[in-house]
Amino acid sequence: MINGETKIVGVIGDPIGHSFSPIINNAAFEHLNLNYKYLAFKVSQDSLTGAIGGANKLGFKGLNVTIPHKEHVLVTLDQVDTIAKNIGAVNVIKFHDDEAHGYNTDGIGCLKALEEKTKVVNKKVLILGAGGASRAISNQLIDANIESLEIINRDLNKAESLRSDVLKNYSNAQIEINPLTELKNKIQEADIFINTTPIGMKGYEEQNSPLQAQDIPENIVVNDIVYNPLETPLLKEAKEAGAKTVNGIKMLIYQAAEGIEIWTGKKAPTNVMEDKLKEILK
Ligand code: ATR
Repeated sequence: MINGETKIVGVIGDPIGHSFSPIINNAAFEHLNLNYKYLAFKVSQDSLTGAIGGANKLGFKGLNVTIPHKEHVLVTLDQVDTIAKNIGAVNVIKFHDDEAHGYNTDGIGCLKALEEKTKVVNKKVLILGAGGASRAISNQLIDANIESLEIINRDLNKAESLRSDVLKNYSNAQIEINPLTELKNKIQEADIFINTTPIGMKGYEEQNSPLQAQDIPENIVVNDIVYNPLETPLLKEAKEAGAKTVNGIKMLIYQAAEGIEIWTGKKAPTNVMEDKLKEILK
C-alpha cells in the first residue's frame, strides 16, 4: 500500500530502464513489511546535483547511484565514508538531518559473495580487469587483509594506475600487475580468481571464457561478476575444473542488501532478493 507515510528510495543513472534494482529492493521491503518504495530515475549529468538536492528536500531516505554518476557524485555530497573515498566512487546515498552521506557497497557486495565459499584473509587474489568494478573490489579486498593482489588487464597502463591508486590508500599492500598473456600462468598461484570484465556477458562475446577448464586449478574459488547469463562460460569451465564458483548475482544482491541496511537499519533478506532476481532472469 502507498500512503502518506510511504518512504521513497531509488536509483539514479543514465540509462536506467533495464535496472534490476527496483525489483530486488522492493522484494526486500515487501518481505520486511517496510513502507518503502524503490523507483528508478533517469538523471543526466547536468541534472545530477539538482536531482540529489531535490530528493533530499522531498524527504527521500536515500538513493543508489549507478553508471555514469558514481564518481562525479562525490563532490555533491556532505560526507563520504572512508572506503568510498578510497574507491573514488559512491553507489549509496543516505539522506540524514538534511545532509547527503555517501557510501560504496560494491566492494563489500563482492566480499560477502566470496565469503559464502571462502575466507579472504591471507589469500592470494587474481583479478581480471581494471575498470570501476575492479577498483571497488580491489580496495575492499586489500582492506579485508588479503595476502596479495594480482591485477591482469588488457590495457596495462590502466592496471598500473589502479595499482598506484590502491597503494595511496594502503601503502603496505602487495600488488602486482600483468598483461593478459600472463593469465594462465598467474592463476596457478592464486586462491581466488575474479572476473570483472564483461567477457561472457549476454550480448558481449557471449561464447567466450577468459580461461579453459584445463587452465583452472581445482582448489581455487572463481567469481564471475557477470550475472547474465547466470552461469557464464567462465563459471562452466571452472565447474568442469572442479573449482568452487560464485556467480555474479551474489555481488549484485549483497551490494543492494548493504544499501537497505544503511537506509533502514534492518538486515535485508538476501535469499528472497536472490530468488526474485533468478525468477526475472530465467
Ligand atoms: P566496470 O565499471 O564494469 O568495471 P569498465 O570500467 O568499463 O567497467 O571496465 C571494464 C574492464 O573490462 C576493463 O578493465 C577492460 O579492459 P581495458 O582496460 O583494457 O579496456 C576490460 N575488458 C572489456 N572487454 C574486454 C575484453 N574483450 N578482453 C579483455 N578485457 C576486457
